[in-house]
Amino acid sequence: MNLKEAAAKHALKYVESGMTLGLGSGSTTSIFIDLLGARFSARELTDIQAVPTSEATAERARKWGIPLTNLSEHPTMDLAVDGADEVDPNLNLIKGLGRAALREKIIASHAKRFVVIVDQSKIVDRLGRGPLPVEIVQFEHGTQIRWLNSSGCTADLWLEEDGSPVVTDNGNYLARCWFENGIDDPYKLSLALSTRPGIVEHGLFLDMADIIVIAGNDGVRTMERK
Ligand code: A5P
Repeated sequence: MNLKEAAAKHALKYVESGMTLGLGSGSTTSIFIDLLGARFSARELTDIQAVPTSEATAERARKWGIPLTNLSEHPTMDLAVDGADEVDPNLNLIKGLGRAALREKIIASHAKRFVVIVDQSKIVDRLGRGPLPVEIVQFEHGTQIRWLNSSGCTADLWLEEDGSPVVTDNGNYLARCWFENGIDDPYKLSLALSTRPGIVEHGLFLDMADIIVIAGNDGVRTMERK
């Protein structure tokens, strides 16, 4: 079993029949959806429904016949399960390299319990080892990129291989911000990004995760919020 699969399999332990679930995006969560779908098809789990965080996740859940719902119908989810790009010792995260951070954050914030599934490679001492995705409106997006570049990181517009801007499921562009020595103060940065007009959302998920499931070569361990 590979490490992503081991983490996804462990997270199934938190799922019970009758639950409304938030389903994240990315390769680790895709494995989780397949495992969940198999148990649902076998009727080992019944009466579940899910709110997807991306069109890709919705399509995957549909293939398994997992009933989909939305926040208007179910504003509170029992459990949200998602991957992450980086996890620090305080259970803070960088997410969004799967391009879905906005819906992921909305859905995680509506869940009673937010479980994050990662392999060992995602564990960092300090957030900002890799890029931080920032979702920006298309209108005057160059202004946002310039502002990000003056705010302590090196930022660019995330482009597809053909050179066109990446467009999210929400119709926005994405910037990526690189920090030379990691992020000094994630809370300060999060506040600055969240209060900037034209920035829709960013990939810092602070004080949101309840449980981190980490798969390593010597087994699966968890970190839990106190
Ligand atoms: C999706 O936008 C992301 O937040 C993913 O959850 C994150 O990129 C982890 O993806 P993988 O499970 O593919 O590594």
